[in-house]
Amino acid sequence: MTLLAPETVNLVDPELYATGDPYPVFRWMRDNDPVRWHGATEYPGFWSVTRYDDIRTVYGDARVFSSAQGILLRPQGHGQDPGGGRTLALTDPPHHKALRTLVADWFTTRSVRALEDAMREAVRAVLARAVALGECDFVTDIAARLPLYVICRLMGVPEHEQEMLFSLTSQAFGAGEPETRSIAHQQIMAYFVELMYRRMDEPADDLVSALVNGEVDGEMLTEEDILLNCDNLLVGGTENVRLAVAGGMQTFLDRPADWERLRSDRSLMPTAVEEVLRWTSTATHIMRTVTEPVMLRERQLEPGDRVVMWTPSANRDERYFENPDAFDIARRPNRHLALGAGEHFCLGAMMTRTEMRILFTELLDSVHSIEQTGPAVPLRSIVVNGLESLPVRITAK
Ligand code: HEM
Repeated sequence: MTLLAPETVNLVDPELYATGDPYPVFRWMRDNDPVRWHGATEYPGFWSVTRYDDIRTVYGDARVFSSAQGILLRPQGHGQDPGGGRTLALTDPPHHKALRTLVADWFTTRSVRALEDAMREAVRAVLARAVALGECDFVTDIAARLPLYVICRLMGVPEHEQEMLFSLTSQAFGAGEPETRSIAHQQIMAYFVELMYRRMDEPADDLVSALVNGEVDGEMLTEEDILLNCDNLLVGGTENVRLAVAGGMQTFLDRPADWERLRSDRSLMPTAVEEVLRWTSTATHIMRTVTEPVMLRERQLEPGDRVVMWTPSANRDERYFENPDAFDIARRPNRHLALGAGEHFCLGAMMTRTEMRILFTELLDSVHSIEQTGPAVPLRSIVVNGLESLPVRITAK
């Protein structure tokens, strides 16, 4: 728990999200300095935006608030994000729209629906394995598996190669040493190079083939652009779902009455999923870079200024949400910003909601009990927040 005066707290200290409590700090900022200059640290200086309305304003103007210089803070000296101006998340209109159109078909309601049965089967297999293990880590053994399975299906990763990719992503985005993580990440990229060449020779009905063969503004994507987009989709498609599902489960373990309420009234599932998204707000911050002089609230922002939007703060803004610090699985309306807003609104939103609904439904239907067996370990990051591990025992029905 932080004991420091909120106005002195360093928002780019990962401990604030791992072992501290950022909510009183965000509340102080919303009340006293909603567009606040955060001086340079190991990260460059930036404007901190904490109110719901202001964050919507920034998301709503992709021309003035650009994504092309990166959407996450990078430590000073690390240079520009290599995906800047090249990946879906890191491009501005009109290029962004063309790129988004190229891959959007795989994320429509119809495409997601077509995958539902396969998702359910995959979750049943994951839960059967977890039951057989007895004790397991909810984050790695359960929450991480469905999103990876889904993104592999979309990208056309053959089934017999998925376990290998799962093991590599667990190493690359897990808790290990930086060197192990970096080697695993390189191996993932090497795998995508191979998959890309396979699809060049033999196109199929999948995302990698769409990137390989599609055109943006009349030009084919370069090999590097294809690989950066693959990497982006893999990370975007897996990390946040894993954290939201695990954070949701932890919340239900802490509040068994809500879990039982959901068990007995399944019509609450859609609102429960939205509330888990709001409550977990796993994408801690999203950044933009100002392209022309603009006023945001009472502040004058200049070209080149970085603007950082804090999702957990927007989603607890008392100006917008009634009783924001209560977890309410029947909350309605619930227009949270966990999935962003505007031009770059999460492409995987429908997929995310479906994955979460299926996972929670199967957890309610196909296992007898879920019990926490040890302390949950928080992640140390300023980019995403949630759990690194959550030890549980799952028993069969
Ligand atoms: C709980 C789960 C998820 C959360 C919290 C989340 C959060 C977000 C947020 C906040 C953005 C906006 C970024 C910005 O405006 O700069 C975003 C964009 C994006 N997300 Fe998600 N996401 C989730 C799941 C997924 C999944 C499952 C996929 C893919 C299968 C996905 C793919 C993407 C892509 C491709 C973009 C970039 C869209 C664009 O720039 O046009 N996300 N996500």
